[in-house]
Amino acid sequence: MLAVTRLTLNQESALSGVQELPVLGWKIESADRNVRQTAYRIQVSHEQSFDPILLHGEWQECESSNNVALTELMMTSSQHYFIRVQVRDNYGKTSNWSPAAEMISGVLYPHEWQAEFISAETPVDKDHSAGTLLRKSFVLNRAQDIQSAFIHVSALGLYELHLNGRKIGEDALTPGWTSYHNHLLYQTYNLTDILEKGENVLGAITGAGWYKGDMGFSRHRNYYGEQTALISRLVINYKDGSQDIVVSDESWKAHDSAILFSEIYDGEIYDARREISGWCAKGFSADGWRPVSVVTHEKSTLVAQGSNTVRKMEELKPVQLITTPQGDTVIDFGQNLSGWVEFKVCGNAGDKVVLRHFEVLDAQGNVYLDNLRTATQRTEYVLKGEGEEIWHPHFTWQGFRYVKVEQYPAALDLNNFTAIVLHSAMEQTGYFACSNPGLNQLHHNILWGLKGNFIDVPTDCPQRDERLGWTGDAQIFCRTASYLMQTRNFFAKWLTDLRYDQTPEGGVPHVIPDILTGYCGKDRLLSEGGTHSASAWADAAVINPWTMYLMYGDTRVLENQYDSMKGWIDFMTAHAENHIWHYKLQFGDWVALDAKEGSYFGVTPNDLTCTAYYAYSTQLFAKAAKVLKRDADYQHYNALHQAIVRRFQEEFFTPSGRLAARTQTAHILALYFNLVPEAFRQKTTDTLVELLNEHNGHLVTGFVGTPYFCHALSQNGRIREAWDLLLKDDFPSWLYQVKAGATTIWEHWDGIKPDGSMWSADMNSFNHYAYGAVGEWLYRVAAGIEADEEQPGFKHFIIKPLTGGGLNWLETRYQSVYGAIGVRWEVSGQEVNLCVKVPANTSATVVLTGGETLLEADGVDFIRNAEGFTAEVGSGEYRLKYHVAG
Ligand code: BGC
Repeated sequence: MLAVTRLTLNQESALSGVQELPVLGWKIESADRNVRQTAYRIQVSHEQSFDPILLHGEWQECESSNNVALTELMMTSSQHYFIRVQVRDNYGKTSNWSPAAEMISGVLYPHEWQAEFISAETPVDKDHSAGTLLRKSFVLNRAQDIQSAFIHVSALGLYELHLNGRKIGEDALTPGWTSYHNHLLYQTYNLTDILEKGENVLGAITGAGWYKGDMGFSRHRNYYGEQTALISRLVINYKDGSQDIVVSDESWKAHDSAILFSEIYDGEIYDARREISGWCAKGFSADGWRPVSVVTHEKSTLVAQGSNTVRKMEELKPVQLITTPQGDTVIDFGQNLSGWVEFKVCGNAGDKVVLRHFEVLDAQGNVYLDNLRTATQRTEYVLKGEGEEIWHPHFTWQGFRYVKVEQYPAALDLNNFTAIVLHSAMEQTGYFACSNPGLNQLHHNILWGLKGNFIDVPTDCPQRDERLGWTGDAQIFCRTASYLMQTRNFFAKWLTDLRYDQTPEGGVPHVIPDILTGYCGKDRLLSEGGTHSASAWADAAVINPWTMYLMYGDTRVLENQYDSMKGWIDFMTAHAENHIWHYKLQFGDWVALDAKEGSYFGVTPNDLTCTAYYAYSTQLFAKAAKVLKRDADYQHYNALHQAIVRRFQEEFFTPSGRLAARTQTAHILALYFNLVPEAFRQKTTDTLVELLNEHNGHLVTGFVGTPYFCHALSQNGRIREAWDLLLKDDFPSWLYQVKAGATTIWEHWDGIKPDGSMWSADMNSFNHYAYGAVGEWLYRVAAGIEADEEQPGFKHFIIKPLTGGGLNWLETRYQSVYGAIGVRWEVSGQEVNLCVKVPANTSATVVLTGGETLLEADGVDFIRNAEGFTAEVGSGEYRLKYHVAG
């Protein structure tokens, strides 16, 4: 049986809003081994029944089953498309048609919008962050003839869309955060089944959000503008081919809402007594509503967001009710998360519910708010007093595990509280379990670090007055994130903003979207050192697109980012002296433990870190140029890379092979980025181990050294040391946090010190994914599922597990774009049982590291070599057994 089990568009099952034709990908399943696709054909229809067919593709003799361009379709705006595929394999079998993937086309040309950005606010409201209401009543006489109806909608600020009395869609915090002046996303919703004959009412609530709210640790409002505004275009397609269009324009009406205040950092105040019953239902009289004003914003910035909107992804119930020693009432949700608390309450009009959200209790078990800095994370709900009231905030979110209940007008019943977990909707692709519960919890914490911080933008942390797209954090965590979840479109969006916000010279801002440039007055470091181009941070411009290419195999990300990548390399070159690069403010090995007391800056010298990253990014860019067949660039940047490496070696290695900076991070970078003269590799590795031993096997590395520490060891024959480092559980270590009860990853190794005291409150997040970058080691090395850059996207890959750490078993599944790759190993004494699963239409090199005797080969031809045993396998499941040396 040959089947296509899933068809994707840009790796999603459905795209709601498409401006450019997506790429197709599909997952093939078969009971046979070594299955290869030999041909495929595609059909497209406006109908789910595929009758009539719009495009009947010919059979294509082709092995590609991912990143397949859908070239022949001529899209028109605001239409529904269903797509399916059928394949043949090398056994001559033909599959049935796949399940259909669907997409709704967006507004393909800016002039088609015919809509205005309309606002319920005036410039006088620039300092306010109240929500406002917008409404439009319209009549449909031919509702029975509707074929389909779609609305495209966006806002300056945030919006919630309503139609005929109900909220449309599951999304939150739309339209998300982008470099708004260049790139404003709109969402598309299917209203076909909601529109009614006669009167219909469209409504929207708008809020300040990132656009005009109070943002950044220097607290600046109005970074992008002073008035919220909505733009929408409703297209109703009738069966006879005609259309009705309802757009946002001056005919809409505006009013104040019950949201009196809503800010990303500070939460929301909502007075239910001010709700206007039926405000967006039919039969409502909008007398007394004010006119809207039209706001100017360039419509060519509008781009369809087909997927990955922020949504309610999970719900968690409280695990306990605490009365603190200071007498506060605290609800514990048992998990550090980002989102909202939804509650039910009964009381009198004017009664209040007031909640403060926070991450940790202090050493005495009291409420700890200091690390939130100026972010109040406070929600206030004023009851209308009409029976049971259910509420959650709208245009804000909180980062928390605990909630201090400051006011609640009734006896507190935990059943009335729910934590709603918000994050960008992405498919989970990584699953990990093993015999070490601490490591399982670490994996859980890394995953929740991602969930908590992938709220439209990859943020450093989700709770204090920051929540910014710090490039360094997103760079080091990118590979791990992409094992855990399908991040293709999430990062494509963010990289688009990176590209837009780059300086004309190619410098890369520290945060994307950039709201620091021009607004960091109170911050001495940034005002003196600048807001762009720090090594390891700015390198996100190159490393993240390359990682996307490796994980998903789509060259489009390299094409889209090519000039941005090149700009960054050229920026470094322009500011390098004789290939040693250094520039203004550098974060270096940020928050490393080898920093001077009270400092954030690790001791590894900046010129070493900068030049190491300069070499690495240049190498990746040269590879990208090669992939895109830009030969002149490839030659140039490849030569540049070699020159930087030579200079690095001259500058930082003594003639006898000692690395000038005797820090763990310097040795890690030199090894992982291949900057070590071959003759000194052994010595450099030995010194790294020495440096580890000097700290009793502990790391003292920061953001720069930590992600690659285990790799630098395991790639250089120090497998035992890599496992030992990973599994250390006393301070400082990953499992120290786990033992201390962490449910996400901390910003500092010493966020909570062994004596219970905390790192200074000015910078102490308990949900910072950066150190979770070790997650990739679990997938790439411990399970051994490694991409092959010659055939990216796991078309061909390497399975090379490294058993160790005293683990009896480990099991990992990675849902690649071709299907699930599985690895399970079990160790008993010297015997290793290994099960691997290779998806159809892919192949893998399986390496049995350290294998001495092959006990079961399951039909595979292994060859013996220095590493152990190696074989090339096609798709299928394999059960292997081998002995390793004692
Ligand atoms: C953030 C970090 C970030 C850093 C830059 C901090 O405030 O939380 O994660 O990368 O600044 O040095």
